[in-house]
Amino acid sequence: MKVIIVKDYAQMSEVAAGHFIQLILEKPNAVLGLATGSTPIGTYENLVKEYKEGRLSFAHISSVNLDEYIGLEPTHPQSYRYFMNEQLFDHIDIDKSQTFVPSGMAKDFEVEGKAYDERIEVLGGIDLQLLGLGNNGHIGFNEPDTFFSKGTGSVELTPSTIEANQRFFEKKEDVPTKAISMGVGSIFKAKKVLLIASGQAKAEAVREMIEGEVTPACPASILQFHSDATIIIDEAAASLLEGSY
Ligand code: GLP
Repeated sequence: MKVIIVKDYAQMSEVAAGHFIQLILEKPNAVLGLATGSTPIGTYENLVKEYKEGRLSFAHISSVNLDEYIGLEPTHPQSYRYFMNEQLFDHIDIDKSQTFVPSGMAKDFEVEGKAYDERIEVLGGIDLQLLGLGNNGHIGFNEPDTFFSKGTGSVELTPSTIEANQRFFEKKEDVPTKAISMGVGSIFKAKKVLLIASGQAKAEAVREMIEGEVTPACPASILQFHSDATIIIDEAAASLLEGSY
């Protein structure tokens, strides 16, 4: 696990975008694993800028997203498909038919999850998976548990996640309580993993992830065992770390 501590959110976003830019320049048909939440917005802004200034093309890129809320149509403004279009896909030359987000409207989430993992295999696997970090150490929507989830499937959101995501919805009752998420196993198969976190609210989860024991009680801690995982955190998110990095 490589830990990079940067000054602030802006620097975190630039460094994270740099990893994607380098990959896309080296491998124009790379498979990107993408994430939602507030944390990656700055990274996507940097990628859009790079494209608009003519230094980067996504024409041969495919992408797979980590998760989606169950019950939200792709056209719902709080759906993760909508988020991805708004924050990234609508502003770059990616072929949208090659951008995949699990369906929150599937009839059978076991079937949808299996098909999603097979899709990733057919694409040749994920070259670089971007991850945010839940306040409780979750990655994708894999909540703290007594085991690591393997493949993509439906998950129940914890009260703390529902509360954290409430800021995007008018009322608490509107926040979905279930999601479909790539499993920890699906995420772990990515060739490279890049986790970004910013701000004091993430400091405890960051400490557990980097310095705690590897346990499904903190799903992100599994990244300690990944052969190519990079963690980019700002000073506030790194403030509870005891080691020197
Ligand atoms: C949601 C997403 C995660 C994300 C997390 C943190 O739960 N499913 O992928 O990492 O929120 O979000 P934020 O970046 O807004 O703190």
